[in-house]
Amino acid sequence: MSDFTSDFWHLYVAVLTLVSIIACAILLWVSGTTKVKAHADNTTGHVWDEDLRELNNPLPKWWVYLFIITVVFGLAYGLLYPMFGRYAGVLGWSSLGQHSAEVERQQAAIAPLYAGFKDKPAEQLAGDAQAMAIGERLFMNNCAQCHGSDARGSKGFPNLTDGDWLHGGSPEVITTTITQGRHGVMPPMAAAVGNAEDVRNLANYVLSLSGSPHDAVRASQGQSKFAACAACHGADGKGNQAIGAPNLTDNVWLHGWGEEAVMRAVNNGISNQMPAQAKLLTADQIHVLSAYVWGLSNRPAK
Ligand code: HEC
Ligand code: HEC
Repeated sequence: MSDFTSDFWHLYVAVLTLVSIIACAILLWVSGTTKVKAHADNTTGHVWDEDLRELNNPLPKWWVYLFIITVVFGLAYGLLYPMFGRYAGVLGWSSLGQHSAEVERQQAAIAPLYAGFKDKPAEQLAGDAQAMAIGERLFMNNCAQCHGSDARGSKGFPNLTDGDWLHGGSPEVITTTITQGRHGVMPPMAAAVGNAEDVRNLANYVLSLSGSPHDAVRASQGQSKFAACAACHGADGKGNQAIGAPNLTDNVWLHGWGEEAVMRAVNNGISNQMPAQAKLLTADQIHVLSAYVWGLSNRPAK
């Protein structure tokens, strides 16, 4: 245990453990050496159930030895392993270290499998049946819980098969997305837009950009309010992949479609996170995965 945050608890645990073991040893010694006054017939005088008498016999030797072994074992174990508070132990073992070693061993074992893939560009890899079978399995194990087993996503989780990208769809950008993760943030914008009517008008203007059903009068009244959005979504509403601001003109809606959904985005803002995979997958695995994801919306080179 090396992750105590305060000195007090580290010492508390260390002292309590040591004192308990020493107390056991003292108890053993005292009870082994103290003489109990016994009667001439070697009974203590305690009688139960009318005729059950307690004899004053010592513990069998093997039993005493077991106690001694337990105490010695406890002390030796505490010396070798991290048992006393923050003390790391002579062997330097830790569960974290063991886990890292196992992960390293596993990664070394699978490295040869990926050796043939790592120098091939993703466009070519996407046409390689064996690499794509591995890519699909990696996707099922690591990505499908969020993006769906068909990679078509759901509300909040982008569809990876449609060629519409928040952050960009080149293999390099996909690799960066998988490795570092992404955090798409849109701040609440209602204050910058105006009152509730302004927000509703603006929402209709946003819907008009993609030719979605909208109220044309409201849309024309809301148009000027789009200035508050242009910094991120662009003056034409086509988005900006450098900051992950989506294209609002393409009728692909990550957070729901319609007036209410757009108003919700403006009023509440959006925070949407994809976790970094760098610690979970090797660079070789991520390379195969990004070729797989790229291939979902592109025709692979033969
Ligand atoms: C815990 C859920 C979760 C997991 C697991 C996850 N993702 Fe994501 N992913 C997201 C979210 C949420 C986004 C959208 C981020 C944003 O809004 O900027 C995203 C975005 C992406 C994007 C960018 C899409 C775009 O339009 O630019 C790619 C590519 C991607 N994920 C691939 C993967 C791959 C490959 C895996 C498996 C290694 C994976 N994701 C695992 C939640 C997840
Ligand atoms: C600071 C940059 C920024 C500003 C300003 C901004 N947005 Fe966004 N917006 C984003 C980002 C980033 C996302 C994507 C969030 C995510 O990763 O899911 C987004 C998402 C959205 C969505 C959801 C799109 C979908 O596919 O579901 C709508 C609608 C939207 N913005 C409308 C607006 C409007 C209207 C304004 C102006 C009032 C605005 N945004 C201002 C950055 C911004």
